[in-house]
Amino acid sequence: VIITIDGPIATGKTTIAKNLAGKIGFIYFETGAMYRCATLALIRAGIDFRDEQMVADFMSHYDFDMRIHRRECRYYLENQDVTEEIRGHPVTNAVSAIAALPVVRQRLVAIQRTMAEGINAVFEGRDMGTAVFPNAYLKVFLTGKEEVRARRRYEEVCRRFPLEAEQITYEQVKREIAERDAYDTGRLTSPLRQPEDALVIDTSDMTIDEVVQLVIDYKDDMKVAQESKE
Ligand code: C5P
Repeated sequence: VIITIDGPIATGKTTIAKNLAGKIGFIYFETGAMYRCATLALIRAGIDFRDEQMVADFMSHYDFDMRIHRRECRYYLENQDVTEEIRGHPVTNAVSAIAALPVVRQRLVAIQRTMAEGINAVFEGRDMGTAVFPNAYLKVFLTGKEEVRARRRYEEVCRRFPLEAEQITYEQVKREIAERDAYDTGRLTSPLRQPEDALVIDTSDMTIDEVVQLVIDYKDDMKVAQESKE
């Protein structure tokens, strides 16, 4: 069984997906981190993103590792823990351009589908319900007011990257979010879209627990409806 969670930046996707998965005993995958790892790997290899052939050659043998440490998922490139580095500004600035490249998406989508084989999982990202798992059991699409999302992301930067936060203002974070969302929505390959059959939740005025409970209730209702049909 696959549950997908998609939506723009700072709608609570990651925390909601993680908490939901924990509560229902599913495995949880954050695909944004996978695009961030690929971006860091390409930056480190000094690959010119505009050279499609070079990116394609690199991606054909690209791989990364995920390991669970103290109940948290950590990401590794060539045995080095990059979990913090992939959240920093250089990767965040470049990731949407890299994620728009078809050769990058093909490789990561193949990895994601392999990961999903034979398990119960929550997959969180931008194109999970539309492109990667169009037949998912339940699709969730999270939205939120721009101001609320920008505030959340700014507070996250202050908490996780206090040094970066000194160089950046709330207004700047808001602008960068809008730019990255526009890029993700406007790209040709698997753009960020609300799946037609999604449960849509505006998380602006809700707590994480409330959203998670709403999804669980919806899933339980689906199960009851299905059982009564059988
Ligand atoms: O979720 P997060 O903000 O970490 O994702 C980083 C970027 O990766 C997004 O802005 C988007 O460009 C890309 N992404 C994507 N498809 C996904 C997940 C993330 O294109 N399924």
